[in-house]
Amino acid sequence: MRVLVTGADGMLGTAFRAAAPEAAELICTDVGELDITDRAAVVKCFAAERPDALVNLAAYTAVDDCESHEALALTINGSAPGLLAEACAARDIPLVHISTDYVFDGTLEPGQVYPEDAATAPLSAYGRTKLAGELSVAAASEAHWIVRTQWLYGVGGPNFVETMLRLAGERDRLTVVNDQVGSPTSTHSLAPLLWTLLERRPAYGVYHAVNSGSCSWFDFAREIFSQAGVAVGVDPMDSSQLDRPAPRPARSVLDTAKLRAALQLEIIDWKLALSDYLQRRETVSDTPS
Ligand SMILES: NC(=O)c1ccc[n+]([C@@H]2O[C@H](COP(=O)([O-])OP(=O)(O)OC[C@H]3O[C@@H](n4cnc5c(N)ncnc54)[C@H](OP(=O)(O)O)[C@@H]3O)[C@@H](O)[C@H]2O)c1
Repeated sequence: MRVLVTGADGMLGTAFRAAAPEAAELICTDVGELDITDRAAVVKCFAAERPDALVNLAAYTAVDDCESHEALALTINGSAPGLLAEACAARDIPLVHISTDYVFDGTLEPGQVYPEDAATAPLSAYGRTKLAGELSVAAASEAHWIVRTQWLYGVGGPNFVETMLRLAGERDRLTVVNDQVGSPTSTHSLAPLLWTLLERRPAYGVYHAVNSGSCSWFDFAREIFSQAGVAVGVDPMDSSQLDRPAPRPARSVLDTAKLRAALQLEIIDWKLALSDYLQRRETVSDTPS
């Protein structure tokens, strides 16, 4: 299977490449090789590479910047996935497209979860543009798996775990948001799921994929420090104190039952996934360059 990957140099792309089965032939591109907003370049790349499947990991992911650059974000996150899906439909190949819980407004009650068909209501420009991407993919090609995920961290990208560990080295006490709840998700859990999806080819449509369990950013930070053996004080705060441009969903927990049933597997708990990540980053930093 020849798999064309867009946005392959990003954080999820790094884990996706590392998780590739031996039999897979990867054609990795990022914006330097294939700008997904360039229709002619997409058509040319498909003709030259003749892929059997596409995995779109490219996106404008700077959530706060999207508020002031919504038109650009819409081109990359909204329209370009439609161009890719059109190219896939023309070759009759399936695509995996990654989306986000930011398509929801995060007004769940404690204990509730979002199924795939829950009503979308994005709060932010990023969420609106990612929802537009879901719709443009679905309109252009039936053969799609749209995978919504959230709170990603992994080797090869700036992420919350790295930010917390860096700040803990610089300060004695930290304040962390305690009024947003979600599921921290390791790219090293998600990437193999994407490969399994490509191999088992369940029914097309939307799927939710996150590590199991949920917590607030404050809980996540405390678990990071506990597992990493870092002594630092952590105090909770409300997100209003951060004054960020983009509003975030307050309580957004994605139900993964559909994906687990379709692939006949369980997805590990976020605390186990964190422990795996902490070991991986040690290995990476121990490797001589
Ligand atoms: N990170 C999260 O917490 C999170 C949560 C939910 C869903 N997601 C989704 O997961 C997917 C992967 O995210 P990620 O965290 O791996 O993001 P990332 O690290 O920002 O990677 C995205 C990659 O896409 C590239 N890119 C940007 N514009 C492009 C274009 N026009 N053509 C081709 N490539 C382009 C980026 O290049 P530059 O760096 O040069 O811009 C980057 O290498 C995205 O769809 C994102 O929306 C992420």
